[in-house]
Amino acid sequence: MMELIEPSTEYKNSFIEAVKEYKEDTVDSFRHAKYRELSLPELEADFGGFVARELGKSEGENLPEGYVPQTDYWLVDGSEFIGRVSIRHSLTEHLRQLGGHIGYDIRPSKRRKGYGTKILQLALPKARELGIERVLVTCDAGNAASQKIIEKNGGVLENQVSDPETGGSKMRFWIDPSDHPNTSHFS
Ligand SMILES: CC(C)(COP(=O)(O)OP(=O)(O)OC[C@H]1O[C@@H](n2cnc3c(N)ncnc32)[C@H](O)[C@@H]1OP(=O)(O)O)[C@@H](O)C(=O)NCCC(=O)NCCS
Repeated sequence: MMELIEPSTEYKNSFIEAVKEYKEDTVDSFRHAKYRELSLPELEADFGGFVARELGKSEGENLPEGYVPQTDYWLVDGSEFIGRVSIRHSLTEHLRQLGGHIGYDIRPSKRRKGYGTKILQLALPKARELGIERVLVTCDAGNAASQKIIEKNGGVLENQVSDPETGGSKMRFWIDPSDHPNTSHFS
């Protein structure tokens, strides 16, 4: 069964395999900074500590200065880790302009199978549970896959703004999660 779960030590082996894929993937490597920063020996040695830190972000712990609390979920299919979605509980000015409420990625070996579309679909009821009434989701102009994912999940384009971090532009979409059924898993 495919579902969103909280980060869990049960997925240690599969998560570490996915981190290796992210580190080796050259196509979207600029979007994988957080995986590249992870140390494989440290994950092997203390996966429980890593998971605890991920869970703590929901309470505002273990986050860089200026970051708001965020809840991360993992998309899993049976015993396999497939991808990650982060839901920021509120918007800072930076998130309102560029980052949005929800960010996601799918491990390189599992792309183009519909998982990206599903991870956002499953995250929308979670956002609603966190009290987010309208969800802002952004993507780089030119990230065709992410744009399709957002549009297929009901995203309505507000505008496109320049992104000083990339020199390109960001597309800003709003989604009303109440338009979506409250499903937390599907098979
Ligand atoms: C973007 C990402 C999540 C897409 O995941 P995915 O599982 O491949 O997405 P899906 O299989 O649901 O595909 C969604 C749509 O995009 C299309 N698509 C997927 N990859 C594509 C690509 N590289 N180029 C063009 N279109 C692509 C699919 O064909 C599908 O279109 P369709 O609905 O018309 O068939 C994944 O590539 C990823 O993790 N990228 C790096 C991180 C990232 O960009 N995150 C988004 C930040 S806003």
